[in-house]
Parts: sequence; structure tokens; C-alpha cells
Amino acid sequence: MYKLFRHAHPFFDHSSTAVLLDVHHQVLVSSTSGSGAQNGVLRRGRLTIRRDEAKHVVGNILHMNVGDGEHSYSKHSLLQEIAIKKAKPVLEEAIKSMLRTGSAFPKCFNVVDLGCSSGPNTLLTISYIIDAVYRICQQEKLAKTPDFQVFLNDLPGNDCNTVFKSLPVFYEKLEKEKCGFLSSCFISGLPGSFYGRLFPNNSLHFVHSSYSIHWLSKVPDGLMNKGNIYMAKTSCSTVHEAYLKQYRKDFHSFLRLRSQEMVSNGRMVIAFIGRTMIDPSASRDCCYYWEILAKCLYELVDEGLIEEDDIDLFNVPIYTPHEEEVREIVEIEGSFTIDRFEMFQINNDPRDNDTNEDFIFNEIESGKNASNYVRAGLEPIFTKHFGASVIDSLFSKYAKLLGENWLLEKAKNTIMVISLTKH
Ligand SMILES: C[S@@+](CC[C@H](N)C(=O)[O-])C[C@H]1O[C@@H](n2cnc3c(N)ncnc32)[C@H](O)[C@@H]1O
Repeated sequence: MYKLFRHAHPFFDHSSTAVLLDVHHQVLVSSTSGSGAQNGVLRRGRLTIRRDEAKHVVGNILHMNVGDGEHSYSKHSLLQEIAIKKAKPVLEEAIKSMLRTGSAFPKCFNVVDLGCSSGPNTLLTISYIIDAVYRICQQEKLAKTPDFQVFLNDLPGNDCNTVFKSLPVFYEKLEKEKCGFLSSCFISGLPGSFYGRLFPNNSLHFVHSSYSIHWLSKVPDGLMNKGNIYMAKTSCSTVHEAYLKQYRKDFHSFLRLRSQEMVSNGRMVIAFIGRTMIDPSASRDCCYYWEILAKCLYELVDEGLIEEDDIDLFNVPIYTPHEEEVREIVEIEGSFTIDRFEMFQINNDPRDNDTNEDFIFNEIESGKNASNYVRAGLEPIFTKHFGASVIDSLFSKYAKLLGENWLLEKAKNTIMVISLTKH
């Protein structure tokens, strides 16, 4: 049942093993083991790894493409930037209502951005939050804003260096634009999974997360999803059930953990990819781009570059929920009230004209743009599983096939934005 990978894992060089773990040391992507794995023990499909090694493995696999090179996340995060800009009114309204309904302005406003990644979006979000508080303080004729304590959270493998290097310019800009009225602002990186505790009890006023919590803590257990890498039209119903079960567990624990960390009347604004139809296989905004990516992987099988079994062992640890599923979990968990639930769509090619509903101007360019955006987020995972040598070929096939598909019907990402108040 378990297959020996041909790519030796860097942390298990005496066995052929490829794993993707979250900080609770659970396997995110497929787990395999050679017979003599000395650092890990395979028990019923789960690889238990000594704590010291697990720390390294986590961060080195799940992260966006680092730096600012051709395929970096920094260069290909326009889609996420559009989502942040569209969600801005929800964020501003949440901060306004919190500060206006709270008994007193906090002396220090404690904020976290969960899954901040690296690149221009990381500090864009923070500037929106600071601006919103700043404006309210001016309207309320306060002498100064509170101090800001800002935490930038992501998994330990995130490219924090790129973010930290951009901080001096950010601080300088803040000082220039808001001189005199802005109190101090302290920004720190916080490595760790948002599926674990990150803060002391009752310490956060505002939690933000954009384009991150559709990532699950792990690939659902027991998936039998031959021929696919996500929920697909040809997946049997147990696949959707398994994904939904994992999502329920993860999102429930995400809410429970944040509720412990947040002050009462604190606000949380989260944006993530969802889907418009309850049946995932009928949703063009949910499954279809993974189906196309699976087709490209099969072309690599035909070319003898990967094996079919490699695809069978691979499923993406992402879930794009339907509104009903999200509302149900918030209600069951019980710590938050939903103040706003917004949905909007963004073209899969973020450079495409937003007002153009159905027409593709240039399928080659559009396919490339969309493929680059997927590659910037998924390359590390695909490289670990399928090997670095097939990545260029995989994503150039993907660009071509996406473009050809959009000549038939354009596709969009559905973004959900929820604003919640902690009871
Ligand atoms: C597509 S990026 C979004 C980055 C940024 N918020 C933006 O809008 O551009 C998703 C980020 O979520 C992070 N992420 C995924 N699962 C996570 C987890 N369990 N804990 C913390 N960060 C996580 C990834 O490492 C990645 O950097």
C-alpha cells in the first residue's frame, strides 16, 4: 500500500520518504516509508517523527515560492492583492464598529495577520488596518492612536526575510504620512500554524487572514481518489465527505483557538476561496482547475516522466467550502457572531479585465498568468512529491490547457469574506 518514493527526503536521507507535516506533526501530503526509516516510524499510514526533525520538515515544505524571482509568490500574488482590496470595506467596518462599541480604546492595539506570506500583500494588509484605526482616532478627536503590536504569522518555512527587509521603508512611510499622531508600531514575525495556539488568552483585539485558511492542516485521511488530486467530477462521494470532515475539524479548531486568544468584542475578518454550489463537482469555481492540473500530470505519465501511482498518492490539502458549510461550523462552535458574509468573484487570470464577463482576450497570456499564480503557491509541494525536474513542463502544460478551456468558458475564483465578533 505504501510506495517507496524515488526522491530522498532531505531530512531522511537514509530512507526514501516524502512527507508534508503540520506543526502537530501530522502528515499533510502522502506518507511513505522505506523499510529502514531510522528517524520515523510508520504506523497505520502516519509517520511519527522525532520532534526535533519535525520542526524542520514543516517549514521546508508548505510555503509559497520565496524571494522575488520569476516564479516567486512576491511576483505572482496579484490575485490575492485584488481580494485584499475588495475586502477592504469589510475590514474597515469591523474595526470601526469594534472601536465605537468597545468601552475604551485599548492602549495597545494587538493585531495578527494569519498566513501573511511574503511580498507586497503582507504589509498592504497591515497598512489598511493601521489606516482604519488612525482615521477613527482622528474622528474621535483623540490626541494619538494607540500603540500597535502587529504579528505577522505564517508557517516556519515562510520567507520572512523578504518581509523583514521591507520593514524599514514601511516604518519610514508610516512616520512621514502619520507623523505626530501615530503612536509606536511594533511589527514581529510569528512562526507557527494557525491550527495551533499562537497567543496568550484574551490578548488579541483584531485577527485578519486573507487567502490562507482554505489550506487544511493535512490531507484528509483515507482518500481513495484515483485519477484526481482534489474533489473532482469523477471522485466518488466519499472523497467530498472526507474533505468536508477534515474542513469541519480544522475550521472548528481554528475558531476555538482564536476565541481563546481574542478579547471579548474583538473582531476577526477572514477571506478565503470558497465555492458557489453545494455539489463540489458541479462548481466550476471549485474543482475544475484541479481537474485540469491532474490532466497535465497524466500527460507527464504518458511521457514517462512520473508514474501513475505518484498521482494516486497525491491530494491537495485545501478545501473550498460552500457558504452553508461555513455558517454551520461558526454556529456549532458558538464563540462568534457573523456580522457580515460577503462573496465576490475574481477572474482566474488576475490581469484580465475585471468588467469583462465572458470573453478571453488572449488565451495564451491568460493561461500563463493563471498558471504562474498557481505555481507560486504550489511549487514547493509539487516539487517534493513529483520532483523538481517536471515542474517547468507541468506548469507550461497547465498554462496551455487553462487557456484552451477558457476559450470555451471563462472561470473565476469565488472569495468569501466574513467579519466576526467574539462574544
Ligand atoms: C496564498 S498565501 C496568502 C498570503 C497573503 N495573506 C496574501 O493575501 O497574499 C497563503 C499563506 O498561508 C500560509 N499557511 C497555510 N497554512 C497555514 C497554517 N496552518 N498556519 C499558518 N500559515 C499557513 C501559507 O504558508 C501561505 O503563506
